[in-house]
Amino acid sequence: MEDCLANMKNNGVMILDFGSQYTKLIARRVREQNIYSEILPHNISIEKINEISPAAIILSGGPSSVFDDTALEVNPQILRLPIPILGICYGLQLLAHEYGGLVETKENGEYGLSNLSIDNTQKIFSNIPTSINVWMSHMDQVTKVPEEWKILARSSNDVIAAISNEDNTRIATQFHPEVVHTEFGTEILQNFLLKIANCSTDWTPVNFISSQIEKIKNKVGKEKLIIGVSGGVDSTVAAALIHKAIGDQSVGILIDHGLMRMDESEKCVRSLKEGLGINIHSFDESNLFFSKLENIIDPEQKRKIIGNQFIESFERISKDFGEIKYLAQGTLYPDVIESGVGGGHSSHTIKSHHNVGGLPEKMNFSLIEPLRELFKDEVRNVGIELGLPKELVFRHPFPGPGLGVRIIGKINKERVKILQQADQIFIDALYEDDLYDKIWQAFAVLVPVKTVGVMGDQRTYENLISLRAVTSSDGMTADWFKFPQDSLAKISNRIVNSVQGVNRVVYDITSKPPGTIEWE
Ligand code: XMP
Repeated sequence: MEDCLANMKNNGVMILDFGSQYTKLIARRVREQNIYSEILPHNISIEKINEISPAAIILSGGPSSVFDDTALEVNPQILRLPIPILGICYGLQLLAHEYGGLVETKENGEYGLSNLSIDNTQKIFSNIPTSINVWMSHMDQVTKVPEEWKILARSSNDVIAAISNEDNTRIATQFHPEVVHTEFGTEILQNFLLKIANCSTDWTPVNFISSQIEKIKNKVGKEKLIIGVSGGVDSTVAAALIHKAIGDQSVGILIDHGLMRMDESEKCVRSLKEGLGINIHSFDESNLFFSKLENIIDPEQKRKIIGNQFIESFERISKDFGEIKYLAQGTLYPDVIESGVGGGHSSHTIKSHHNVGGLPEKMNFSLIEPLRELFKDEVRNVGIELGLPKELVFRHPFPGPGLGVRIIGKINKERVKILQQADQIFIDALYEDDLYDKIWQAFAVLVPVKTVGVMGDQRTYENLISLRAVTSSDGMTADWFKFPQDSLAKISNRIVNSVQGVNRVVYDITSKPPGTIEWE
């Protein structure tokens, strides 16, 4: 964590989280401008902020009202620091309240798109048209601005929608510039970051790689390091980065649980070993996994068994590599902040996620997580910069428990084979029809339902395959992909005609929420 915070010194942006569903999005939007940003809790101490010394602070939105007893508060002295501040939604209300303006709860809030009339096209609105659509999501509103502050824009409902103090070091918007529905949202953020906060745009993959290489070299010295590789983007990029830093002092281990996609473990090992010269070894542990999974149908139980067996296998195998001091993992920034940095809102366990490589702390290694500052798209850029093949870098996410959560009901080798074949046909067709990169995640699911069909003159009574394809930006919410019918027809035909044991194909049209992306 301290390493990450050092990135913020003088150039980066500190985002204080008041519990908005969009906080993470603000951080991403800032990073897209090649400016480092990080989310920190709203109750951070002023001493800590001074120590970190960011170039700017952004106050996120949030569900509270400044009038609530339980409102998420911030030390008011922070709002007086000589650092440029942008307040968004609740952030605007906090600033207005602190500087002596009036915030009121009105009967009707504004939710969704609203038209913004901009009166002042200086600084934050420079080069922005005077009328744009913006995304609103608020109940409370500012009805009187603090003395000497200016109203910059109003919404079509005559709500004060953007304000600033006299010298433009405090800017606040009632609307959400970080949300894609806000027209010119990127430009508005850019204006704040570049014209008001004067941040420099040096957060690039090249700089990230060279600084990480230095850090890894310094930390590991002459010791040995082990990394679990799953074939997914994150662990592959982490392995490539570490290899670039310390060469053969690092050992990659791929534990094949038998629940990978077709030929995936061989492909992964080949591209890392032959393509990049990475010291990687794969171990076929599938028999162990299958025997433990026999007759298990409960999804949570499956996940736990796979997760625990993974740890057992990893512990046993890693011992064969002698004295190893460090363990590397491809943990990403969203994994770090998932727990809810600001509000500390606890969420229900929907599924117990396990990352391949998500190993227990009791293992006697020191942890190295070179990607823990990065979002997924940043990891991909780093991967490309490191020379990894494009198909690998832009591959859809794949869950740690693999096909285990896509085979509903019992898991055994025969059923894995059926699913692998159907899945391969599906994915090949997506590449063929130029659809793969338009989709966040696509896969087949084997459903333990047999239905009647007819092939030739024969009655069939076989399994059902469901196709799932979703669009999403981070997997937290998702929409089902509006598939071209011709492609669906082709995929269905191919699966039914060439996968033995399948005679029917359906397409899943459930969004998340209320569905989840994986079926289990
Ligand atoms: P759900 O099914 O919860 O999935 O909507 C959201 C995203 O997370 C992936 N996923 C996992 N990834 N270990 C992982 O590394 C897991 O146990 C796991 N379960 C789900 C899923 O593929 C989707 O991208």
